[in-house]
Amino acid sequence: MRGIIPIVAIVCTLLAGSMVAGAIESSDFDDPTVCKGCHAEIYNQWDGSMHSIAYTDPVYLAEEEMASNETDGLTDTYCARCHTPIGVLSGEVPPIGHENMSEVSKKGIQCDFCHNVNKSTGIGNGAFMVALDGFKRGPYEDSKSPSHGSMFSDLHTKSEFCGMCHETHHPVTGIPIEETYTEWKEGPYNTTTQCQDCHMTPGITHFEANPGKASGIGPERDHVYTHYFVGGNAAVTGVIGSEVHQQMAEERLKSAATLALEAEKKVTEAELTVKVTNVGAGHKLPTGLTEAREVWIEIMATDASGKEFYHVGGLDSDGEVDPDAVMYRVVLGDASGNPTVKVWEAESLLSDNRIFPKETRVEQFSFAIPEGVNGPITVEAKLNYRSASQKLLDSIFGKGKVVAPVIEMAGAEDTIEVGKKAPDEGVPGFESIFALLSLLVVAYMVRRNGK
Ligand code: HEC
Ligand code: HEC
Ligand code: HEC
Ligand code: HEC
Ligand code: HEC
Repeated sequence: MRGIIPIVAIVCTLLAGSMVAGAIESSDFDDPTVCKGCHAEIYNQWDGSMHSIAYTDPVYLAEEEMASNETDGLTDTYCARCHTPIGVLSGEVPPIGHENMSEVSKKGIQCDFCHNVNKSTGIGNGAFMVALDGFKRGPYEDSKSPSHGSMFSDLHTKSEFCGMCHETHHPVTGIPIEETYTEWKEGPYNTTTQCQDCHMTPGITHFEANPGKASGIGPERDHVYTHYFVGGNAAVTGVIGSEVHQQMAEERLKSAATLALEAEKKVTEAELTVKVTNVGAGHKLPTGLTEAREVWIEIMATDASGKEFYHVGGLDSDGEVDPDAVMYRVVLGDASGNPTVKVWEAESLLSDNRIFPKETRVEQFSFAIPEGVNGPITVEAKLNYRSASQKLLDSIFGKGKVVAPVIEMAGAEDTIEVGKKAPDEGVPGFESIFALLSLLVVAYMVRRNGK
């Protein structure tokens, strides 16, 4: 059990960092339905978000249990801290699971947790502190409520707020497991666009004002931040029936990237250049749980009759992505240097080929053009996203029970003329023979009509 002492030490430090004077109880926090009374619209946006189910998400619960079993419970507090902050602050976790938990703790990352955060002790691993002083912290300097104190909080308006949790390092090995904040901080959006601008406004890839009321009984505002907290998860939002969030995740994925395709004929080969650009994500593409997320290129070529003769990046009969596909992801290594998706085992970063914000990645493909193919050839390229591999989902839900939708983020088509005289070939192609024949027919008709 190497690492036991460092984990305990780190967990204790994390816990100490969150303590306020006096013990915290889950009953110190109001249930989100209390806030709903006056903030109905915000409540409805949050309800069904990944934040609202962070501690009931079946994928999370399965992984949490596996991690706990494999480490004799060492990961319990560590994992739960970001997934049920109230559960950990109030001491209801450990143990993990839902046995000891109050209703409010089960509701994951919710209103009264975020709006009682008064301080951050840094970035990552749940570096938050809360103050239970009756004040709700938010973006307004002039806000008045009949049920609570209101206080402006600069932290809430900045990426550093999200960075307390959207940055995970292995507590013992220090291996970065999630680095969304750092990817943003080191990228081109760090001075212009906060996480909130893209994830809490209708803009998706930029700030877009959302005029209205923050509370039914409050004043009209030039802008009210939305609370859908949508990322790329169209799988679990689908499982729990959050249609609005699922659709918004698809729309977000489709705004994140562009794909350009150029197909060229070189003698008997087709040469393809695919350019993928991360145009809309303020961090790498993909980000977050990147040892599980799958973003890859799929290419298909068909002849004039629609018959497919080339395909890379498709799914096999078990629903797995073609191992030859170009895939953008992180591969973590365990103690023996073998790839693992179990983050608690991570001792090294084997590879990371994800696309930086605003970066264009150029990929080359080629295939032999079958002899006598019926042209023109249509080539189609797609950039696909899937929340997790089928193997991972099968291990949690049972074989084929849950299928993560494959979302086409971007796509393009090009055609290759075949059969005609290509510039570097000496033989007349099919099309020039056809043209010659047509000429002969025309000449014959002219002569016949002339008789
Ligand atoms: C009795 C009605 C009522 C209830 C219940 C209520 N609020 Fe409010 N809240 C308001 C009003 C009114 C405002 C002022 C809106 C404005 O300034 O535009 C407000 C403002 C806020 C603000 C903005 C603070 C700022 O300074 O930026 C936050 C955050 C907030 N509420 C969170 C909550 C949370 C969390 C809950 C549940 C624990 C809650 N509210 C419950 C009425 C209520
Ligand atoms: C993950 C943390 C988080 C959760 C969960 C959350 N909020 Fe917020 N909320 C924020 C942040 C951050 C802002 C301010 C964004 C900014 O200024 O950039 C905000 C802003 C607000 C405001 C000010 C008006 C606005 O929308 O701009 C109100 C009121 C509010 N939240 C209420 C709620 C209620 C009610 C819930 C639960 C249904 C809730 N919040 C859940 C983080 C959260
Ligand atoms: C207390 C920790 C915590 C804070 C603070 C927090 N998040 Fe999260 N967030 C999470 C966790 C945990 C999940 C994943 C829940 C799950 O998948 O089960 C998540 C999920 C999300 C998702 C959905 C990802 C997907 O795959 O669809 C988005 C988007 C998101 N958060 C954005 C934000 C933004 C923006 C902020 C800052 C305003 C923020 N979060 C603050 C912990 C946090
Ligand atoms: C310029 C707009 C923009 C900014 C800034 C931005 N995001 Fe995103 N985010 C996106 C888009 C678009 C996607 C969907 C593509 C993807 O998954 O990367 C996304 C996806 C995500 C996801 C889901 C990743 C997955 O596939 O599971 C999370 C979590 C997330 N963002 C959190 C954050 C956090 C935290 C910040 C700030 C540190 C942030 N984002 C800043 C646009 C942005
Ligand atoms: C520092 C905060 C933090 C810690 C600690 C943490 N997580 Fe998370 N977790 C997140 C965030 C943020 C996301 C959302 C990222 C995304 O959607 O890509 C997430 C997403 C997940 C998901 C994806 C759920 C889905 O539906 O796709 C799983 C599974 C998960 N975490 C398991 C764990 C386990 C197991 C541990 C402990 C070994 C752990 N987490 C520790 C913040 C944390």
